[in-house]
This record gives sequence, structure tokens and C-alpha cells, in this order.
Amino acid sequence: MKFFIDTANLDQIREANAMGVLDGVTTNPSLMAKEGIKGVENQRQHYVDICNIVDGDVSAEVIATDYENMIREGKELAVLHPNIVVKVPCIEDGIKAIKHFSQLGIRTNCTLVFSVGQALLAAKAGATYVSPFVGRLDDISSDGIELVGKIVDMYSTYSMSTEVLAASIRSTQHIIQCVEVGADVATCPLSAIKGLLKHPLTDSGLATFLADYKKVNG
Ligand code: G3P
Repeated sequence: MKFFIDTANLDQIREANAMGVLDGVTTNPSLMAKEGIKGVENQRQHYVDICNIVDGDVSAEVIATDYENMIREGKELAVLHPNIVVKVPCIEDGIKAIKHFSQLGIRTNCTLVFSVGQALLAAKAGATYVSPFVGRLDDISSDGIELVGKIVDMYSTYSMSTEVLAASIRSTQHIIQCVEVGADVATCPLSAIKGLLKHPLTDSGLATFLADYKKVNG
């Protein structure tokens, strides 16, 4: 399973990348706003800065919600860097835009997906990635991981090549559950990725090894 980091924070992206396990980055307008990146030119430079840190796919989301402007904006984003993936919301014009981008060879991430039906449309339109939002479904007493598993099964049954990118991952446990249901990618906060490292037996075992070494070597 590939790891993407779900942030527009350059320090966190650098830190995750330095671990050597990062395969890409996802951003969204809320994450860009959180970093205080204002204005189209600054936002585009920020995407390029991210691409210059990570050797992997970087999702950049269109703001337009109508077909013509999604196409214009998506083309402008796609030429920023070869690793840019154009992120498009799962609405009617978005599905049309994804189809058009796929015919042009522009890679896409269909975002804000909350049902198997939406994921079916995204794949039929030729999306490179589909992003079911796990945490936001859990927030409303639904089962986000169950949806990820159902989409994985559907794509497998019909040999659809769209990759399942589990998004809105909130915890380390979510990452493990994504592995269990066969997600292709999980896009996660840095804290959730680092949580995978934690085990008390690792900490106590290392302390014992170092203490034993010191007894003999001083
Ligand atoms: O990739 C989508 C993700 O950023 C949404 O996460 O935590 O705002 O639901 P969240």
C-alpha cells in the first residue's frame, strides 16, 4: 500500500519524505488555506514547491465547479509539474471533466466520494484515483473503511484500473484497516504515519540492548 501525506505543510512533507516511505501528497483547498497560501500564483508555486520535495504524485484540487472552468483550471494545474494529479470533486461536471482529462492523458483524483455508486462513475470516467473519505463517514455513524473495502472489491470484480486512495484518514488504526481491506493508497496526517512506529516492546527492548551494551563497553 502506498503512503501519501495529507497536508500542504512543507515542513511535515519534508519530515515524512525524509523517513523514506512517502509515495505522494494530497492537498485540498482547506489544507492550502490552513497554511495561509493566498492567491492563485502563490498557490501554484506552493504545488511546485511540494513537487520539488517529493518524488511522487501530488494532488492539486480545482476550485471551479462547472465543466469549462474545471477543464481550464485542470490543464493549468497539470502543466505545473509532471507529478501533478488534478483533483476533481465527484459531481456531474466533475465526472465529465475526469472523462475529458483521461482522454488527454491528464491524471485525476476524484474526491469527496462517499458511495460505491460515485466510485463506479469515477472509474468509468477514467479517474486515476478515487478518494473515499473514511473519517467523514465515521463522523456520521457510517463505516468509512467498509466503503473502501466495497470499492476495492468492485474494482477487482470488474478489472477497473482506478486506484483506491483512502482519504480523510484520522488515525493509525485507520491505516491498518486500509491495509486489511486492500486500499491501494492511504493519504494520512503525519501523526498517523508516525503512530505505526509505536510499540512499547520496541522501546523496552531497545533500552535493554543499550543497557547491556553499556555494562560491557562502559
Ligand atoms: O484528503 C481529504 C482529507 O483531507 C479530508 O480529511 O480530516 O478533513 O475529513 P478530513
